[in-house]
Amino acid sequence: MSSHATGPLSGRITVPGDKSISHRALLLGAISLGTTRIQGLLEAEDVINTARSVTAMGAPAAKQGDIWQVSGRGVGGLRKPDAALDFGNSGTGARLMMGVLAGHDFAVDLVGDASLSRRPMGRVLNPLREMGFEVLAGSDDRLPLTVRGSSSLVPMEYTLPVPSAQVKSAVLLAGLHAAGETTVIENESTRDHTERMLRFFGAQVTAVESDSGARITVKGNPTLRGNEVHVPADPSSAAFLVGAAVIVPGSDVTVEGVLANPTRTGFYETLREMGADITFENLREQGGEPVADIRARASSLKGVEVPPERAPSMIDEYPVLACLAAFASGETVMRGLAELRVKESDRLSATAAGLEANGVTVRVDGDTLTVRGTAGEVAGGGTVETHLDHRIAMAFLTMGLATERPVAVDDTAIIATSFPEFTGLMRGLGAKFEVSAGAGAQ
Ligand code: S3P
Repeated sequence: MSSHATGPLSGRITVPGDKSISHRALLLGAISLGTTRIQGLLEAEDVINTARSVTAMGAPAAKQGDIWQVSGRGVGGLRKPDAALDFGNSGTGARLMMGVLAGHDFAVDLVGDASLSRRPMGRVLNPLREMGFEVLAGSDDRLPLTVRGSSSLVPMEYTLPVPSAQVKSAVLLAGLHAAGETTVIENESTRDHTERMLRFFGAQVTAVESDSGARITVKGNPTLRGNEVHVPADPSSAAFLVGAAVIVPGSDVTVEGVLANPTRTGFYETLREMGADITFENLREQGGEPVADIRARASSLKGVEVPPERAPSMIDEYPVLACLAAFASGETVMRGLAELRVKESDRLSATAAGLEANGVTVRVDGDTLTVRGTAGEVAGGGTVETHLDHRIAMAFLTMGLATERPVAVDDTAIIATSFPEFTGLMRGLGAKFEVSAGAGAQ
């Protein structure tokens, strides 16, 4: 598929539910007592794989009308699945589920696609092993793995070696199944949806700032009660529509009801610093999370320095930010991107290669990415290798809406892992995409 320069994009739209919150709603629903009702669950492959996994372990998740319902089994109450749990492309699904499985005394096989099977699981397995989780089969701490939890997990205090909400969440979820208090210490704050939702379901979770970082503590063996979750729109999906509105001349787009949790809004903060006309309107709270309507209008951008400490709050948005930076005047320097190398692809390399293929000058020095903006015309005309990475595909399709020549991506099927509606919604705003003969259609 390729994207083509288009006239102004305009409209008010919504994007599907937040992926992080959707995974957590299913998992917490499964380990609560009673029924959890989820409105706005993201129906993309990653989340559907989590729904299938909890269903396979005796906590059926199914859609009734507009609402997903999960019949929970309580903390420690899941049963051994008959077959391997397949997480497809999803690191979040696999890693958070490991935290839950740690508290269950049965062996289970975990598998994923080629991208997920390359990604490091040791970052989650190491603390979980200290609590009593075992890896029975598998090599190099990568999927496929056979693991076994324990009904007598030991609580622990763990300092995150990398700023990762997935690792934090896995340890906290395991901590629910341990007798006593489990504490995670994080030096850089990462998305806090697990903590918020755990409290919402009745767990005791405290977060205290200290000299060594934030100490987040969960008390083991709580009784969690099924709840009603309303999933806000995903700011990581909205980023593509907002980004497109900023670079396509004359555009004016509003994305409604987007999650505005400050641990997720680094991309929007950065775009504003670059001079983008972006406003958060109608700020309100929905199910314990702040949400807003985000209005974006076409703007002239200038290059900025993005500080490393902002990385966790925009970790999934660097590919699209780098694509937008190509249109800015001056250089945009993004520092502290080491974690990008272990995402669905090596996003640092994939982003740099995609930009180069489209005539943009970039530099990668260690974990710093520098994009030289052209202050206007960006050549395009290249084909981008997506490496089974949905965000690489969507970032470059977004960029091609404002380049001189079309931008092609080699795979669009992978977009369905997080945002199946992407091309349809973009087209609704006025975007032009063409499916090339023989390419996977979207
Ligand atoms: C996620 C955390 C992030 C992010 C991923 C979703 C989550 O990963 O990249 O898309 O839902 O916890 P890390 O926490 O490993 O950086």
